[in-house]
Amino acid sequence: MKEDTLIVTAGRSPEDNYGIVNPPVYHASTVLFPTVAELERSQQERLNNNTVYYGRYGTPTTFAFQNAIANLDGGYRAVALPSGQSAVLASLMAFLKSGDHILVVDSAYGPTRALCNGLLARYGITTTYYDPLIGPKIEVLIRPETKVIFTESPGSQTFEVQDIPAISEVAKKNDCVVILDNTWATSLFFRPFDHGVDVCIQAATKYIVGHSDAMLGVVTANEEYFDLLQKTALDLGAPAGPDDLYLGQRGLRTLRVRLDRHMSTGLELAMWLESQPIVKKVLHPGLPSNLGHSIWQRDFRGSSGLFGVVLQPTNKHAIAAMLDHMELFKMGYSWGGYESLIIPTSPSGQRTATNWDPSHPTLRIHAGLEDPEDLQKDLEDGLQRLENASGC
Ligand SMILES: Cc1ncc(COP(=O)(O)O)c(C=O)c1O
Repeated sequence: MKEDTLIVTAGRSPEDNYGIVNPPVYHASTVLFPTVAELERSQQERLNNNTVYYGRYGTPTTFAFQNAIANLDGGYRAVALPSGQSAVLASLMAFLKSGDHILVVDSAYGPTRALCNGLLARYGITTTYYDPLIGPKIEVLIRPETKVIFTESPGSQTFEVQDIPAISEVAKKNDCVVILDNTWATSLFFRPFDHGVDVCIQAATKYIVGHSDAMLGVVTANEEYFDLLQKTALDLGAPAGPDDLYLGQRGLRTLRVRLDRHMSTGLELAMWLESQPIVKKVLHPGLPSNLGHSIWQRDFRGSSGLFGVVLQPTNKHAIAAMLDHMELFKMGYSWGGYESLIIPTSPSGQRTATNWDPSHPTLRIHAGLEDPEDLQKDLEDGLQRLENASGC
């Protein structure tokens, strides 16, 4: 089946549900068994796909979502978690123990860093951050106790594209698990398992849910690593909620058309912004001016709507003059919904392995599904206010 058909059909089984198109929302803790034999069988098979045993182990609502994502990712099986952050936590806890060492990309999502520097450090796990553009040279950072290489490509603030195939090759030679946070690209724009990734995380909160109204995470693993991942997720005892799972599987059905639009609008705005004098650089892997663009061209099948803008030096007051009065680009955390967003970012405060020049303010833009011309006009007016206030 082609991907665009898969995205519409994966995880659905109307024949098991009175012909109703979408998988129903099962709210469940207790599941009843008619006989001792059935109860025991279910207990033994509770980790199998689609076994309904007890609410925390998943219901048909959970399986519909997990099966669809595993299918689209091209992995073995997936586990759903209640947020992207809990998906990061489960993935790290699964493959690390006290005394281990992990390599984490310097451009990783802030709370992933906080998790490594806080909780993991308290449990005796040491982190080394590495340059996102390190490629195969990552080998020099590997120690005997290095167990995991954590990647996020592109990073969701500075948008460097990592050479995942090269890193995976080194990881395989050194018995390290490669974990990728693939939230930016989703399975549609980056096929993790084709590039040597072992464990793929998505904050489904973003593009998969797509409507900014649910928190959801999902991790797909290859066959070698799935059991440990599943066991850890169950030990953490935090299943994804049924209504959020439902919204995740529903969002999937339109992911392709939404992503295509996020891509075209994002690129259009990025190219226009690149020509503006007050803009120093646009951080978008789809632009030839970006480091990592050739790797993106080689490995990715598209770009989503999230990118960064580095401005010429200005002041806080001017940034506020721009952002406080935007008509369509609203300020708020997260991204991947239908709506456009803009926030000031501060990458320099979040890096240790590489330098980021703090004298140039940066913005992060999410290109939503509004009309691209309206969005450009909103940015144009905003940049005008920024310029006017810059001299003050
Ligand atoms: C790249 C990335 N990974 C993970 C997460 C965490 O997802 P959630 O907010 O669902 O916990 C985020 C959230 O912004 C993110 O941007």
